[in-house]
Order: sequence, then structure tokens, then C-alpha cells
Amino acid sequence: MTALKSVAVPERPLPIVIVGHVDHGKSTLVGRLLNDTGSLPEGKVEAVREMSRRRGMPFEWSFVMDALQAERDQGITIDTTQIRFKTAQRPYLIIDAPGHKEFLKNMVTGAASAEAALLVVDVLEGALEQSRRHAYLLHLLGVRQVAVVVNKMDAVAYNAFRFDGVADEITRYLSELGIVARAVVPVSARFGNNLVERCKQTDWYDGPTVIEALDAFTPMPSVTERPLRLPVQDVYKFDDRRIIAGRIESGRLRVGDTLHFSPGGRTAKIASIESWNEAAPRLTAVAGQSVGVTLDQPIFVERGHVAATAEDRPVETHTLRVRLFWLGHRPLEQGGRYTLKLATAEHQVTVKAIERVIDVEDLSGRSGLTVERNEVAEIVLHSRSPVVVDDFAAIPRTGRAVLVDGYDVVGGCIIQAPAAEMADRNLTAVSHTVTIAERAHANRHSGAILWFTGLSGAGKSTLAMALERELFRKGCQVFALDGDSLRLGLNRDLGFSPDDRAENVRRAAEVARLFADAGMIVIIALISPSREQRATARAIGGDYFHEIYVNADLAVCESRDPKGLYRKARAGVIAEFTGVSAPYEAPDAAELVLDTGNNDPATCLSTLLDHVEAAVLQPDQPQASVA
Ligand code: ADX
Repeated sequence: MTALKSVAVPERPLPIVIVGHVDHGKSTLVGRLLNDTGSLPEGKVEAVREMSRRRGMPFEWSFVMDALQAERDQGITIDTTQIRFKTAQRPYLIIDAPGHKEFLKNMVTGAASAEAALLVVDVLEGALEQSRRHAYLLHLLGVRQVAVVVNKMDAVAYNAFRFDGVADEITRYLSELGIVARAVVPVSARFGNNLVERCKQTDWYDGPTVIEALDAFTPMPSVTERPLRLPVQDVYKFDDRRIIAGRIESGRLRVGDTLHFSPGGRTAKIASIESWNEAAPRLTAVAGQSVGVTLDQPIFVERGHVAATAEDRPVETHTLRVRLFWLGHRPLEQGGRYTLKLATAEHQVTVKAIERVIDVEDLSGRSGLTVERNEVAEIVLHSRSPVVVDDFAAIPRTGRAVLVDGYDVVGGCIIQAPAAEMADRNLTAVSHTVTIAERAHANRHSGAILWFTGLSGAGKSTLAMALERELFRKGCQVFALDGDSLRLGLNRDLGFSPDDRAENVRRAAEVARLFADAGMIVIIALISPSREQRATARAIGGDYFHEIYVNADLAVCESRDPKGLYRKARAGVIAEFTGVSAPYEAPDAAELVLDTGNNDPATCLSTLLDHVEAAVLQPDQPQASVA
């Protein structure tokens, strides 16, 4: 037998990011990691010593980054820096960028992607705002494998108690973001303690060193080892064959495999892989190759469909939660319509909710109705056609999309597939056997959420109850819920602070969603004073949601004062009273506005009925009458 010579395959480096506030010692950590793993090029330590001397400082490890950067700066403009180092286990690639903006842009557009991260936290600072923002950055990027480095332990004399406090805080915050910290390591980057070498002063710590924590991460399978995704580019008729053409974005296929096409779920076996210039017929193909396949059955397939295996298929959804990098000159707007391009598919989408806008310079978050150029945001999109997606962290190529306005690409998005959101929290949705369509057919109307917002005394509850009666008379399945009654039961633990009101709105929206899924028309009468909170309600309610602004001036509401509450609020007996001592943000894109200040209740009710008839009731099927 001849011995096979083994050929060393260069190992793919694990791409990681190191995040943390500059002052928390990120650069020092990188410098020290490179040095302590023996990964620094010849002469770099001397260069750093010289640099430190010239700046009149003691030896400064963070200058290693500058020393490496200096070479790259000569004439070339690149906006991602890639620093390499190696442990006994494998090579690593640290992805960095000069600023958060470039960093996020590269990540969101797929120019760079990290599979794991180190979050550097200063033990003196703890999980304060700065660290939280960097943790949030990891959430934005969809990085799931995270180790926390609690740095500057030398400054607290390696005190276990101080470490535990910070470790608890930061792991709690990460878990709120759906991230489980794999390790939390007490470190002094400056002295190289617990990076590669275990540190004697932390004998109370028995977890991994930073290098051990990194080596314990699992690299993503290579793109050919991932689940099959073949987005259909085109279907050609060629003599009597129908050839389905596209590029395999991940996984592999072979003749005889059963393909499952989404959306729709049709299946067929691969009869052949067509090739033009090859002598022998091809039997297999892998990621990166463009192929044409024929099927053993004439099923309907078109451009935009995605072929996978039945066992591991993408998600089909109408609602997408995405992290967006906005490039458009005109701001992205709530309610705005764009084209979503994902692999070979195109969908018309509407911006249902802008949940959070992030300033890329300081990573602070705000709420708002628009996203400006170069801002990052978490938004919810709704598509009329089913979108076939994957979670970005699992299959980046089909977990990423662009938004197009006219002919211009205006945004890049990373998608969090609903399945991944549920898996993160160990949840599984159970499907109903009675479908939404069946319920709608039986009720002769679809489910709906009519969300009344407005000041106390504007007439929300009065109109809600009048509408309930009227729809009931028409034979509808209808139920009205108002703030006061919810607050007597389900929400009895909530007061009127902004946080409590947000929770009040969220719970009401979730309940409304269940009613609507059950096929009912649910009328919600809630002050719901904040735009952001109503956007959340809209995102929960999806297509069922109609925002109805019951509008009357404060003066009018106050003069009505049906419950005597304005009087009490003015007298200072009730705190945080909406309109008096707490804000009300009027909607600017409600589906319907009722001016109860200038119209009598009967007129408002008839406007409401018109809206419901047009938007909810099925016009071709007259409602039964029970009156
Ligand atoms: S919301 O702001 O959280 O949406 P919600 O509609 O549930 O308010 O409850 C408003 C009702 O609670 C009012 O109609 C009023 O009867 C009562 N209420 C008691 N205290 C306040 C307050 N500080 N602000 C507004 N409403 C109050």
C-alpha cells in the first residue's frame, strides 16, 4: 500500500470582534493577546517601546494597534482592519474598523462578519451605560458566542467580590438581549494576567483564561456544510426540459435528492444536473457553483423561490424583524414602502414599526418615526407576499437583504428569523388546526384590532362601546376593552409611570392579538400616549392593527371631565395625569382620525362604521342581523 502524503489544509481563521469602550482597555487587550500568543511580527515590540518613549509614557501595549495600523495607512484606504493571531488550537482574525459607523456598515452589508466576540468591561466601571451599549452592538450584529473580559483587575487588587458584582450585572444584561455569556474572565490586560497565562492573584477563579474561552468557541460550519439553499434565478424551457437555474448559496446537492421549494412547500426530486461543457454528467454540486437542475415532476417553481431540503428549510414569514443600516438620502419613515431584495426574490414591504434608532457614534438609542442616513435601527417590516428567510447568524447569505427605493439601494438589513427568536428562548409555537381563513369564513369577517388612542375624556370608551353594540347588531364577533377595565384585572399591578404605561400597552396589544387570531374584532380604548409604544402595539398586532385617533382638544376634554379627574389632576391630587402633568403624543399616521371635539357622537360612529365596513367586513357577504 502506498502511504498517502497528508497535505496540510490551511485552517480558516475564526473571525471575532472585540468590543468595549476605548477606555476599558480594548487596545491593550489586543496588543497583549498578539504578544502573548507570539503573533507579533519581528520588531513590533521595539517599535512600541520607541513609540511609548517618544510620547513620554511607560511601555504602552495599546500602541501595538497603532504600530500595526501605521503600515496599513500608507496610501491605502480600507475601512476594515483585520488583525491575525494564533493559538495552539487555531488561527483567529480580529475584525475592527476605525469607527462604529464603518463597523456596522460592514457587518450589515456582509463585507465582514464575526462568529464570536469578546466584550471588554472595566471592573471599575461595571455594566454602566458604555458597556451596555457595546453589548447591544453584539445583539445588533447577531453574534451569539460571547465571552466577557472583566479588565483592570489589578486596579481592585484582584478582588473576587468586585469581580462577581460586575460579572452578575453584565451577564444579566446580556441575557436580556438573548445572549448567553460563555465565560466571564477576570483579567489584567496590562499585566497579561489570565490572557494566556493563568494568574496567581485570582486563585478564587476556576474558569477559563481568555485564550481558553476563545478556543472553546465553535466555528460555523463551512458554507458547503451548512443547509442547502438554492435561490431560483430563472426557469428555462429547453427542448422538453425545464431547467431551474441558480447559484447554490450554501450546502450541496446531488441527483436524486428531494428538493423542497419555499414558499409553497412543493417538493420534487432532482432528475439531473445540467451541464453544457462537461463530458460526463454531473452528479453533485456545492455552494458557490451556479447550476441548472431538472426535476422528476412538473411542479410550479419561479424566480425568487428557494430550494432546500425538507429537513432543514428556511422560514416563510410576512413579518420581518430586521437590523437596518440606512443609506438613503431621504430618511426611512414609519409607514414607508420599499422593495426588499433578498437573494433572487423581491417583495414590496411596509415599515410597520421603528422600534429603536441607534446613534452609530455613541451607540445610544432613541425612539422615533424616522431613520436618518447612516443611522442603524431595529425595525419591523411587513410584506404582502411571503418572504423566505434564514436567521442571519445561521445562514448569512439568505439572512441578509437590501431595501431599494426606486432604483437606489437605500439600506442593508440583517434579518432575525422568527424561528431563531423563538429558539433563543427555547420556545416552540404550536399551530392551530382551525385556520385564520376558516374562522374568517365562519364569522364573515376577518379578525381586527381597532386601537383607539386619545386623551382621557376624548370619547374613546363611549365610541368603543357604541361601535361594539353596532357591530354586534350586524352579527360580528366583537369585544371592546378599555384601559380602566384592563387595569382592574390583568393590569392591576400597573400604575401610570412611562414604564408602566408601556407595559400596559404591550399587554393590551398581546391580548388584542389573541382575540384577533381567534377571529374577533377587538376594540381597544387606551390613552396609549406614546408614539413609540403604539408602534410596538402595531408591530404586535401586524395586519390586524388599525390606529384610530379619537381627537379632542385638551380644553374640550377638560371641560367635559366625565370622571372629575382633570379637576383632581389640576389640584395636584393625581400625579402624571395625561395632558396635565404627563405628555400625550398625537399620532401622525393613524388609519382614521375622529374629531370628537367638533362632531357629535352619532357622526363619529358612522365614520367609524364606514371604516370598519371597508377595511374589515367582507363586502360580498352581507352580515347576518341579530337585532
Ligand atoms: S395609558 O396611558 O396607560 O394608556 P389607560 O388608558 O390604561 O392609560 O388608563 C387611563 C385611565 O386611567 C383614565 O381614563 C383614567 O380613568 C385613569 N387614570 C388614573 N390616573 C391617571 C393618570 N395619571 N393619567 C391618565 N389616566 C389616569
